[in-house]
Amino acid sequence: MHMVTEIPLFKDAVEPIYQQVARHFRLQIESGRMLPGDRLPPTRDLARALGVGRISVVNAYAQLQTDGLITAHPGRGTFVSGARVPSVSGGTRWRSPGALNLSVREMVRLARQPGVIAFSGGTPPEEFLPVEALRHAINSVLDHDGAAAVTYEESEGYPPLRKQVSDYVTSLGIQCHPDEVLITGGAQQALDLVVQTVMGEGDVLLTSNPTYLGMLDIAHIRRVIPVGVPMDEHGIQLDALELAIEEHQPALIYVAPTYHNPTGTVMPLHRRRQLLALAQRHAIPILEDAVYHELSYRQAAPPPLKALDEGDMVLHASGYSKILLPGTRIGYLIANGTLRERLARVKQAADICTPALNQRAMHQYLASGGIVGHLNRVRSELRIRCEAALAAAEAYGPPGMTWDEPAGGLYLWTRLPDDGPTAAELYVTAIQHGVAYAIGSLFHTDGRGSRYIRFNFSSHQPARIEEGFRRLGDAWHDWRDSYLPAVRHAPIL
Ligand SMILES: Cc1ncc(COP(=O)(O)O)c(C=O)c1O
Repeated sequence: MHMVTEIPLFKDAVEPIYQQVARHFRLQIESGRMLPGDRLPPTRDLARALGVGRISVVNAYAQLQTDGLITAHPGRGTFVSGARVPSVSGGTRWRSPGALNLSVREMVRLARQPGVIAFSGGTPPEEFLPVEALRHAINSVLDHDGAAAVTYEESEGYPPLRKQVSDYVTSLGIQCHPDEVLITGGAQQALDLVVQTVMGEGDVLLTSNPTYLGMLDIAHIRRVIPVGVPMDEHGIQLDALELAIEEHQPALIYVAPTYHNPTGTVMPLHRRRQLLALAQRHAIPILEDAVYHELSYRQAAPPPLKALDEGDMVLHASGYSKILLPGTRIGYLIANGTLRERLARVKQAADICTPALNQRAMHQYLASGGIVGHLNRVRSELRIRCEAALAAAEAYGPPGMTWDEPAGGLYLWTRLPDDGPTAAELYVTAIQHGVAYAIGSLFHTDGRGSRYIRFNFSSHQPARIEEGFRRLGDAWHDWRDSYLPAVRHAPIL
């Protein structure tokens, strides 16, 4: 008789109970723990033992029956009808019931369950956000500006904020006049405006592989074709990029040279110069994404591409989401020449303007000078959390997991060993153990990267980080214990 007490159920989970029950039996059957002819418990007994409604168990059995895994014999009971895990010669690919069928939205919902240590998000943690300072800035703006703070702003942005941005990027070495600054709804809108303005439907966008997931979303929505170029520890590989340029004649190259999301890599100065020369030789504009530029905690970041850009090839996008307040949705784009006018028109068509109150409050906060101390605190906390993540990955991560140490940003990019599950296969088991992460293949243009996992280590304090990696290691071992027997026993095709 099956040990019903072993069925782990999450009653608050987004995944319905009947699916959890069905997934459990599917796993037992496909792993060979339950064999053809084994009897499943009667629905009434199982429901009582699990403390769930009988309808949940009935639905679970119905689903398993539809999948051909079990057969009901009226009067006798319900039995496993076969269908052990299909073997693959070499034994390195196993089926993980349920996990691969989850959509990204479902994964996000699962990661939000209470008690789950989520490393999956892309934002700084709440305790990094200077809420009090924002309250102060908003009150002061409303006191001083009154209705002007809550009416339409110029499409290009609140002029004093544009001036502040131009002063700041000038300090990074970028030659910039305030007129060349477009304030946007986060950096995301800056990226989207550029794609809309310089690309047409069906054009090719060259980008690193892996790349920022949000850029893949934009490409999808705007019907341009993202083509991935391999990376190494210094960012996008230039010989491969040149070949891709020749093959695809792209309309745009998108790069994030500093603390790349998801890999954390930094492109060194010499490669930045070579990249610019390459783009200029082929006359392809570059969209530079610099949202993590300020989050260095080991060594200072090299100058942005735009600061080295003598040929005027680079559009520079950045913003305040990663360093200050994601929800205020303040980003910016630096663009010169006639492109600037076109971008401003697309921005106006998109949303008329970025909210005046948010822009003015951001301006007020930046003018107070508070960002300097804030960034120092954030950087030192990030260093502590990064060290904790590296130590925890070493101590508790799946044996054979590898990574490169990031020098800045929010993420640790790791690779799972080959002798175990892929990141997607492990996902549901990891959630059951109370830990969530971002699956590497999501960041790829071509579905590769199935063994990669991105951890946003900034999300938690060191003790939670350690506990999260401990849970991950346990989940990985559990998964292997469940599936390895199936691989060993599977008939050779
Ligand atoms: C590389 C990169 N670019 C842009 C964005 C979007 O930033 P924002 O919140 O400013 O729109 C993100 C957010 O995750 C990101 O990781």
